[in-house]
Amino acid sequence: APPPVLYSFADPDELSKGLASFVLAAQDEALKKQSTFKLAISGGSLPKVLGQDLINRTDVKWDKWEIFFADERVVPLDHEDSNFLANDNHLFSKVPIPRENIHVIDTSKLDNPEEVADEYEKQMIATFVGSNAIAFPRFDLILLGIGPDGHTCSLFPGHELLQENDGWVAYLTDSPKPPNTRITLTFPVLNHAHRVAFVASGEGKQEILHKALDQPEAGLPCSMVKVVSPGQVYWFSDDAALK
Ligand code: 6PG
Repeated sequence: APPPVLYSFADPDELSKGLASFVLAAQDEALKKQSTFKLAISGGSLPKVLGQDLINRTDVKWDKWEIFFADERVVPLDHEDSNFLANDNHLFSKVPIPRENIHVIDTSKLDNPEEVADEYEKQMIATFVGSNAIAFPRFDLILLGIGPDGHTCSLFPGHELLQENDGWVAYLTDSPKPPNTRITLTFPVLNHAHRVAFVASGEGKQEILHKALDQPEAGLPCSMVKVVSPGQVYWFSDDAALK
């Protein structure tokens, strides 16, 4: 895999603008060859940075977007921990994206995370698989955050899910970051994407960003994202994180 491309911006506002332009370029490239733009998004601090500038852009083809969650906390969709809710607050509710294009987790099965994961995988299969069977979906873009321990999605250091080579969506009930029950995309799905972009902004990400960029061999979960060629990994950061 080619080395990651690092984009750095003076401050969070500039980062939001740069990220919006990047997402739009990915959208345009996808729509040149197919009818939809397939995107997966995480939660945490990402939705705010993503939404800030993107909601004001005029060249977004919202009705062509198919959105999945790179990971989701298994809570009701209106719970404050929900990654759907964070994205809804900062993005979905502010733009004309058809609700049926947003692939939410099934809240009727919250007490059965295995079923939630299976059901989510089925939604993904229905979106990605035409008449041909495929081993893994190929997202046009996956937008991810990074935790202070180097986790990304809900793939945590030392967790057995780091070895998952088979499924598209997995569940865990022992997340070290609460809430403990989550579903997450697996590494093979991340690694089959056309583009994976990590967003790390602010002083709190300084230490882990340096570790991720300078010691890729240290085996942090974020460094295990090695996108299959011709895909590419990107890092979006700001001066506060890069100092
Ligand atoms: C989650 C996220 C997770 C997040 C990182 C960074 O559900 O918690 O999807 O993977 O991206 O933990 O979180 P922050 O952006 O809030 O620091």
